[in-house]
Amino acid sequence: MERTKWYKDKVFYQIWPRSFKDGDGDGMGDLHGVYEKLDYIQSLGCDGIWFSPLYPSPGADCGYDIADYMDIAPEFGGMEAFKKVLDGAHQRGMKIIMDLVVNHTSDEHEWFQKSRQRIDPYTDYYIWRPAKKNGKLPNNWDSLFEGKAWTYDEVRGEYYMHLFAIKQPDLNMDNPLVREEVKKILKFWLDLGVDGFREDVITFISKTEGLPDDHIMPASKGLNLYNHGPHIHEYLTEFRKDVLDHYDCVTLAEAPMVNPKTALTYIQEGPDQEIDMMIQFQTQCADSFLSDYYPMKFSLKKLKKAFTNWQKKLDGRGWNMLYMENHDHPRIISRYGSEKFWKESGKMLAVSYLFQKGTPFVYQGQEIGMLNWRPESPDMYEDVQTKWEYANHATRKSDKKRLQRLWRCSRDSARTLVQWDDSPNAGFTTSDTPWFYVNQNYKDINVAQQEEDPDSILNFYRKAIALRRKLSCVRDGNYIEHFKGSKKLYCYSRQNGFQRILVVCSFSDKPVRFKEPRDFPVDTARLELCNYENPNPKKLQPYETRVYLWR
Ligand code: GLC
Repeated sequence: MERTKWYKDKVFYQIWPRSFKDGDGDGMGDLHGVYEKLDYIQSLGCDGIWFSPLYPSPGADCGYDIADYMDIAPEFGGMEAFKKVLDGAHQRGMKIIMDLVVNHTSDEHEWFQKSRQRIDPYTDYYIWRPAKKNGKLPNNWDSLFEGKAWTYDEVRGEYYMHLFAIKQPDLNMDNPLVREEVKKILKFWLDLGVDGFREDVITFISKTEGLPDDHIMPASKGLNLYNHGPHIHEYLTEFRKDVLDHYDCVTLAEAPMVNPKTALTYIQEGPDQEIDMMIQFQTQCADSFLSDYYPMKFSLKKLKKAFTNWQKKLDGRGWNMLYMENHDHPRIISRYGSEKFWKESGKMLAVSYLFQKGTPFVYQGQEIGMLNWRPESPDMYEDVQTKWEYANHATRKSDKKRLQRLWRCSRDSARTLVQWDDSPNAGFTTSDTPWFYVNQNYKDINVAQQEEDPDSILNFYRKAIALRRKLSCVRDGNYIEHFKGSKKLYCYSRQNGFQRILVVCSFSDKPVRFKEPRDFPVDTARLELCNYENPNPKKLQPYETRVYLWR
C-alpha cells in the first residue's frame, strides 16, 4: 500500500480527553463531549485530531498507564462513543491519531499481573532483575517521575524497571512476543479505521544490553543508555514493515533530547524511513535547561536557534512537526509571551510557528490563550511528576517558594478544564464536582466570549490557519531567518516559485524600531495578518506580529 503522506497538508488539534469536554455530566471529559465539539475543531481549520490515551487505565499517569490496549475506557464513553467520533471526524474530512504507549504498561495490565507470577508466556514481558549481590538495586538508573527506576515486587521476589512512575513498568521489547503484541495493537486500531499513531517516548524502548550502571549522566541516570538504544531502528522497522506499511497511516514519535541529526536517522525520507514526524523538545527549552523543572529566563536567542535549526536541517530530507503546547508543558503565553500583553502575545506566538514548514499541532485551550494555573495549595495538583517534584525537591526552601515552583513548572497548567464559557466550571461539565480544577480566569478567557469578538485570539487562530492553507509557499517554500542577532525580533521568510511571505514577530513588551530586511520592500507587499490596527511601517508595538505577502 502506498503511503500518501497526507499528513503534510493537515493541521492537528490535540485533545487531552479528561479536560476537554464532559458530555455525560459525570465530571470527566469524554468522547460525547468531543463529538459535540467536532464542528468547533473543524471551525478552527483543523482537520486532524491526536487523542491522548483513551484506553482503560487506573490513571496513575492520567491514562499513560494503560491496562487494556484494545478498548476505550468506559468513563470516556467506551468503544461505541469512539466509533461515533471516528465516523463523525471522517465525515468531516478529519483524521484521527491515537496515542500508542508501549514503552510501559500499567502495573494493573493483565500481562504484568501474570508476569509477576511467572505465568507463561508473560514471564519475560517486563524487565525483571534480582538485587545485586550486595543487596543494591539492579543498576543506578533514575526514573523520570518517581525516584529510582526499580521497584521491588513481593509477588515475584524481584525488581522491575520503570522509567516513569512506579505504576508504569517498562515492557521488555527485546522479547519478540512483546513486539508481536505491539503489532497486534497497531493492527487492531488501523483495522478499526484510525489514521495513525503518536508514539509515546518510543525512542526509549530498546535498553542497552546488560543494563549497565550509568557513569556519565549526573541527573536522570541511564538516559543515554536507553534513549535511541541499540535495537531501536530494528524494532521500528519491524513495526513498519509488518504492519504500518500496509495502511495509509502516519506515525509521530515523541523523542526527548533529540536533535535534527539523530531525528533524521528515523525520519529521513526514502525507502528506509521508519517514522513520519518527531516531537522534538528543543523548541520547548527556551526557558529551561533540558526539562521544565530546571527553569531559566526565557531566551529568544535559544528559541530562534531551535526553530531555525529544525527548519534548515530537515529541509528536503524530513518533515517537521510544529507545536507550541501540549499536555506535558506549562502554557506558552505564560512562558514565552506575556500575561500582561495576553492577547497580543498569544497571537504573536501563533504566527511564530504556524508559517514554518511542517505539520502544525494546536493543543486544547491554546487557541483561546489559556494561561498557567496558580492554585493556592500543592494538594490541588494531580500529576504524578508534579507531586514527586514538590515532595522531593528543594525541601529546604519555604513552602511558598516550593509552590511557586509548581506554578512555573508543572504540566498540570495544561490540564485544567477547557474554558468554554463563563458559567460554573467554565461550561466544561454540568456536574458540580468536575474531576479537576478550572483556572480562576475563566470568566475573562473562554470560547464563548471569544466567538463573539472578531478581534479575539480564537478568531486570530482561525485567520492564521486559513491563511496558512492558502499559501503554497508555507507548504513547500524555503525558509530564511532574518535579523538573526536581534534579541527582540524573530523574523523569517518563506518563498517558492509563486509567492513569498515575510513573518515578523516581536517578543518585546516595548515598542521596537522596524526596518524591513533587504529585498523585502514591504510597501509593495500585502499585509495579510497583523495583531494591531493601523500598523506603523517603522515601528512594532509590544508583541506585534505581521505576515506580508508578495506574489
Ligand atoms: C510521555 C507523555 C507523558 C507521559 C510519559 C510517560 O512523555 O507525553 O504525558 O507522562 O510519556 O508515559
